[in-house]
Amino acid sequence: MNRQFLLAKRPKGLVESSTLELVERPVPEPGDGQVVVRNLLLSLDPTNRVWMNEADSYLPAVPIGAVMRGIAAGRVVASRAKGLATGDLVTGLLGWCDYAAVDAAQVNLVPVGVPLSAALSVFGHIGLTAYFGLLDVGRAKPGETVLVSGAAGATGSLVGQIAKLQGCRVVGTAGGPAKCAWLREDLGFDAAIDYRAAHLHEAVAAACPDGVDVFFDNVGGDILEVALQHLALRGRVVLCGAISQYNAVSPKGPAGYLHLIAKRGRMEGFIVLDYIPRAAEAISALVPWVQQGKLRYKIDVVDGLENAPEALNRLFDGRHDGKLLVRVAKDEAAC
Ligand SMILES: NC(=O)c1ccc[n+]([C@@H]2O[C@H](COP(=O)([O-])OP(=O)(O)OC[C@H]3O[C@@H](n4cnc5c(N)ncnc54)[C@H](OP(=O)(O)O)[C@@H]3O)[C@@H](O)[C@H]2O)c1
Repeated sequence: MNRQFLLAKRPKGLVESSTLELVERPVPEPGDGQVVVRNLLLSLDPTNRVWMNEADSYLPAVPIGAVMRGIAAGRVVASRAKGLATGDLVTGLLGWCDYAAVDAAQVNLVPVGVPLSAALSVFGHIGLTAYFGLLDVGRAKPGETVLVSGAAGATGSLVGQIAKLQGCRVVGTAGGPAKCAWLREDLGFDAAIDYRAAHLHEAVAAACPDGVDVFFDNVGGDILEVALQHLALRGRVVLCGAISQYNAVSPKGPAGYLHLIAKRGRMEGFIVLDYIPRAAEAISALVPWVQQGKLRYKIDVVDGLENAPEALNRLFDGRHDGKLLVRVAKDEAAC
């Protein structure tokens, strides 16, 4: 059987048990040009919550009654597509389900030897987001001060390390002393601010005495407000995400945007999908960094597709340690 999570209703705030309905359907057959993929690992991303809203974002809203959209990695179990064979490992928008029938063009082959967890994190959408967000949108240069919010998360932890590899001074914000210690002691951040305990304005002023050249924002809300106040001349604010606002009915925007004028600053949003054509550029830098131990990443796996809705909420209170994945099925590749 094929278990599928269907979007049953649009959540207000966090996802609840009634938000998604788990149903059982027959395993699909591949159409012409399609493959059927047995999902092994499902990526839980903050954007999953955004896709549940009624309004379209950079992708259309998930319709009520449709299989929940999600990035996953799995094994091809049936193929009617040229270039893809049974047994191949692939990633793509396969959805919150056991089996997905998708057009071959919708999936990417995972290179032999790459663990699926890495294909869904450092060598996948997360690595590309960190790499292009920091270097292409943020244009971080050696000697500059980079402030990263959500710095202990999947994306933020890569951003901070890549910034260090570029010769930047790096400051991160994260929730709790353990995550801050990991940033400083294991990842080499110059400073880490526990946003739950610190007075943000004073802490950013102390950690960034010459101002913030690049603010890589994963969180939005209060930290965006404070970072704008500390922007250096010609500073750049990279709007990667705003997780503090994803459950809000009326997201809060920054009142302090006038600092951008005084500092001749730039604030720019981006979506990683736009960088897929340049993926090879990022991968050619990320692979040697990981192989040489210069870029580290953590994976946090929750067992069982049935636990995906509850696990998604962990992104919003920090009850995870690294890239959050759900193991949908056991397979030697799903590690
Ligand atoms: N633009 C793009 O194309 C793109 C692509 C991928 C991801 N993103 C964005 O990047 C951000 C990070 O995503 P991710 O997948 O790497 O997730 P993640 O950072 O691994 O997990 C989310 C983290 O956000 C922090 N957080 C949650 N609610 C918060 C709040 N109210 N205030 C402060 N921190 C809060 C928590 O960290 P603490 O434990 O430290 O609180 C949590 O661990 C998200 O905003 C996401 O939407 C954007």
